[in-house]
Amino acid sequence: MIKLGVNVDHIATVREARGISEPDPVAAAAIAELAGAHGITVHLREDRRHIQDRDVEILRQTVKTRLNLEMALTEEMIAIALKIIPDSVTLVPEGRHELTTEGGLDVIQLQRVLKGKIALLQQAGIVVSLFIEPDLDQIRTAHKVGADYIEIHTGTYCDATSRVVKRQQLQRIELAISAAKKLGLGVNAGHGLDYRNVADVVALGGIEELNIGHSIVARAVMVGMDQAVREMLALLKG
Ligand code: PXP
Repeated sequence: MIKLGVNVDHIATVREARGISEPDPVAAAAIAELAGAHGITVHLREDRRHIQDRDVEILRQTVKTRLNLEMALTEEMIAIALKIIPDSVTLVPEGRHELTTEGGLDVIQLQRVLKGKIALLQQAGIVVSLFIEPDLDQIRTAHKVGADYIEIHTGTYCDATSRVVKRQQLQRIELAISAAKKLGLGVNAGHGLDYRNVADVVALGGIEELNIGHSIVARAVMVGMDQAVREMLALLKG
């Protein structure tokens, strides 16, 4: 079965809206795990708009499945990862003015610096994934710089409003999965996935884990975290 990584960033977004201590992403992560999530993801952004350093530190001690730290390729974040030692790091591009991660990492442009930083993280026992567009040149370069995994950006598929574009984007993702697997890369995917659009991505096969945040937290606000995670897991089981 395809695994589910639950991103709890937006539990922290609600907390930060009040600047107090609840709701706590640490508690949300525990409930998600008890409901069957295979991993917990948090994005420690440079501006600390949702997840805080304290969250990552406590999650490192409490997460029983796997902790995936999404982060920008900066000296500060690399130092934090080397201190915390999450199970995996997913390197993402980051812009201060974006609402959420826009586009994938340009691995081709960053290949020189990526190679060294990936090796550094791997030497500390951290699995490294690169969040990229379903683009064959980006995938080949991800392999060249030594990444363990790619996470395919599903945003363009999720945002597509016409059936034709959705179908084209699914085909692009399918090609990307098979190219990455041929190179021996592990394949994860995420961004924009929800209870309506996830089934077609699951049906492609070949993906190890989906990282899903906003739609699960949005549903959790209405029905609770436990039920929201269980409903998504049921869709992943097909
Ligand atoms: N994967 C990556 C690399 C992301 O940056 C995000 C957003 O933080 C997600 C997955 C989850 O996206 P969403 O919140 O749209 O489910």
